[in-house]
Amino acid sequence: MIFNILSEFQGGITTITINRPKKLNALNIDTIKELHKAFKAADKDIETRVIIITGSGEKAFVAGADISEFSNFDVAKGAKLAEKGQELLFNFVQDLSTPVIAAVNGFALGGGLELAMACHFRVASDNAKMGLPEVSLGVIPGYGGTQRLPQIVGKGRAMEMIMTAGMINSEQALSYGLVNYVVPQEELLEFCVGIANKIKKNSPKAIGEAIKSVNAGFKSGVNGYKKEIKGFGKCFGTEDFKEGTTAFLEKRKAEFTGK
Ligand code: COA
Repeated sequence: MIFNILSEFQGGITTITINRPKKLNALNIDTIKELHKAFKAADKDIETRVIIITGSGEKAFVAGADISEFSNFDVAKGAKLAEKGQELLFNFVQDLSTPVIAAVNGFALGGGLELAMACHFRVASDNAKMGLPEVSLGVIPGYGGTQRLPQIVGKGRAMEMIMTAGMINSEQALSYGLVNYVVPQEELLEFCVGIANKIKKNSPKAIGEAIKSVNAGFKSGVNGYKKEIKGFGKCFGTEDFKEGTTAFLEKRKAEFTGK
């Protein structure tokens, strides 16, 4: 049963909305499981060319993992929580071949910022506030935050954000490169749809390979350049490649099928 999220398909775009506004869309375990299912279904759906993830209401994208759920956990349960979450949601989203845009519509704290960072890129509303406040609770980021934040903003800025447990506003996030754009809240989804519409025109097969190749460069023990060579070669065996190159030579727009 799906209780905590909404998923809506329109014009090649699936928009997933985390829908626990009274708890500022905090990620409890059920919500993580529901998100896993929704992302998996959207990624499998050939009609879905782009996924947008956002939070319900005007206040929060996600205010973190649900603190009420783990406050009495022991060492083993704590580790399991992080491991399961990373597997089901954060690494899962990062590795999807369908592009995922985070529309950060308010607070993105702890697991909320970690979810936004697991997405392929981020757009923020002007009221958004972002941070990793875990050390203020006596814990560290456990959903990939200690890895992805330094990758995105650099080690020094990440260290400061993690150690101070403070929040940065959307303009600061923009200057850090944590988000690609800042737009008025009422225009956020429309703006993301605009980017999605540009992405939609391109080959889903090639985009999927490009995501894998970019991600490979951030995985230890994986040679990103080799992954790129393999992915580049794979594209030559796709219908999308045939269509893209033929359309160019015939001076017409390509109609990609994602095959
Ligand atoms: N886990 C569980 N519940 C949360 C939550 C979280 N991460 N973040 C917010 N909530 C709940 C609050 O407990 C409150 O529930 P209640 O109305 O039943 O008491 C509700 O959401 C509204 O939050 P509230 O704190 O009253 O809103 P606020 O405007 O005063 O403050 C925040 C907003 C985001 C600053 C504050 O909610 C906060 O600091 N949240 C926790 C952030 C955090 O540490 N996240 C990392 C977790 S690892």
